[in-house]
Amino acid sequence: MEEKKKKQDEKMSRRSFLNKLSAAGITVAGAAVAYTQLKFMKPTVDYGIDKVFRVGKPDKFKTGSVMTLEREKVVIIKADQGFAAISLICTHLGCTVRPSGAGFECPCHGSQFDEFGLNTGGPAPTPLDWYQISLAPNGELEVDKGIIIDMGTYYKA
Ligand code: FES
Repeated sequence: MEEKKKKQDEKMSRRSFLNKLSAAGITVAGAAVAYTQLKFMKPTVDYGIDKVFRVGKPDKFKTGSVMTLEREKVVIIKADQGFAAISLICTHLGCTVRPSGAGFECPCHGSQFDEFGLNTGGPAPTPLDWYQISLAPNGELEVDKGIIIDMGTYYKA
């Protein structure tokens, strides 16, 4: 009789343990679902770099100077004709081009561009974009990557 009672207690404790384990599993699963639902509600969109940014006052640029903005993927050129903001995004598949000689070269598939961004070799189908430059109210040059202008259109400050 004593043996039977002991086995029954053991069985109950095993049952109790399994119940607690199940409850813990359900709680963990519920918490995981709640976490993913809450995470889903919070936007995770990365809008990246601002399309409009300022690069400084015009008088800080000397004629012939080239300012490469790695983060914005733009090069600012001060030529005799004025300022140009040329994209460093390859028009083939979007790699970042780098200055090479007087122009630019894409490290991915070897496209080449002249100093104006005109595609001169490789698979890039079109020239590099030129972005609009204007003068911000505080007197700084402002580049707008949302507005693509014709190649060779310089901004005169
Ligand atoms: Fe530049 Fe292919 S991405 S050549």
